[in-house]
Amino acid sequence: MPGYELWSDKERKEVNDVLATGILMRYGFDGPRKGIWKSKELEEAICKTFGCKYAQLTSSGTSALTTAISALGIGYGDEVITPTFTFVASFEAILNVGAVPVFVDVDDTLTLNPDAVKKAITSKTKAVMPVHMCGSMADMNALIAICKEHNLILIEDACQSIGATYKGKHAGTIGDAGTFSFDFVKTMTCAEGGAVMTNREDIFIKSDGYTDHGHDHKGADRGADLHPFIGYNYRISELHAAVGLAQIKRLPEFLAIQKKNHAQLKNILAQIPEISFRRIPDPAGDSCTFLSWFLPTEEITRAVVNEMKIQEILPGNFYWYDNNWHYIRKWDHLKNAVTLNSLHPDLKAQVIHHATKDFAASDAVMSRCISTAISLLWTEDQIKEKGNKMVALIKKVMSVQKVIA
Ligand SMILES: Cc1ncc(COP(=O)(O)O)c(C=O)c1O
Repeated sequence: MPGYELWSDKERKEVNDVLATGILMRYGFDGPRKGIWKSKELEEAICKTFGCKYAQLTSSGTSALTTAISALGIGYGDEVITPTFTFVASFEAILNVGAVPVFVDVDDTLTLNPDAVKKAITSKTKAVMPVHMCGSMADMNALIAICKEHNLILIEDACQSIGATYKGKHAGTIGDAGTFSFDFVKTMTCAEGGAVMTNREDIFIKSDGYTDHGHDHKGADRGADLHPFIGYNYRISELHAAVGLAQIKRLPEFLAIQKKNHAQLKNILAQIPEISFRRIPDPAGDSCTFLSWFLPTEEITRAVVNEMKIQEILPGNFYWYDNNWHYIRKWDHLKNAVTLNSLHPDLKAQVIHHATKDFAASDAVMSRCISTAISLLWTEDQIKEKGNKMVALIKKVMSVQKVIA
């Protein structure tokens, strides 16, 4: 997810505008900032680019999630349904507000399995939070229908899928709220940053205040602002927003390259009949940050990963099943509810209960999946060489496995 790969004079120009005034904070200092409001400009660009009514920038994707969840009124005792395959930030944000993350299996879309979601609903369920992993989106129509039927909030963790769409609507703009991350390895970056997107004015007003100590931002004098509720400091800086402003203008260029490179690599890997590809509910909406593919068994997949390591072509290929950040199997800190602050004993017991359930259905998918990150810097020749090496390696492993069998 490499917006950083194409760093340019455009980003430098936007940052230099801010450096010229020296006003690095997004609020106040109206005179000295001489009309430079990078954060506001980026928020407007997000609304225009992705088609949502409101956007609130934050200091990270994690703080965007916490903000959205808080603004939606989710808290102690509430259950939030979320997938077993995500980044740890998704459950961190749920825990941050004292709610319970209820983990649910993923299917071959690598996102929430709608049937598993239905089965996980209890009287305490308040929200469903799909995570649009690796550049492409969950089965939104099915999830919207479930949320409508059970009167549940829908929050999209779209941190990894900037530019993905589902039936013409952008990731993060479909639910009650959605979030992006602009950290250094996202499709577009601010170095660090995030955004809450919503079409609901009430959620936007709450997000705006929550990310700045509850300020109501109604006047020009920060000291005179009222605080209708308690908030925190999840503000972005003008320097970070300046980088994002340059990057959002370049997003169509990034996405076009990503899609082209993804298609070329997919065509090469498709030569192997035993490989299947991730199911994408709306294929036209794939942002193509990763090419995710499956091998027939865990044994073969592990052998392929091992051979990639030996041939030194593993970097850029992710076997999430063994990854400490992205798949529940390795989240021991969560399974033991190890926190620095003390949790209410009931919450702690619930966290442990839900994190240690049987996720055999997710295991069956994730143990056979490899995701190849798509670089914007690859040339056609490099993709050909890379793809052909992968094909030869996979064929070699498959033939050895056949002999053993
Ligand atoms: C799915 C998902 N959610 C949330 C986040 C958190 O974003 P950040 O690193 O900006 O806090 C990430 C970051 O990798 C992510 O992949």
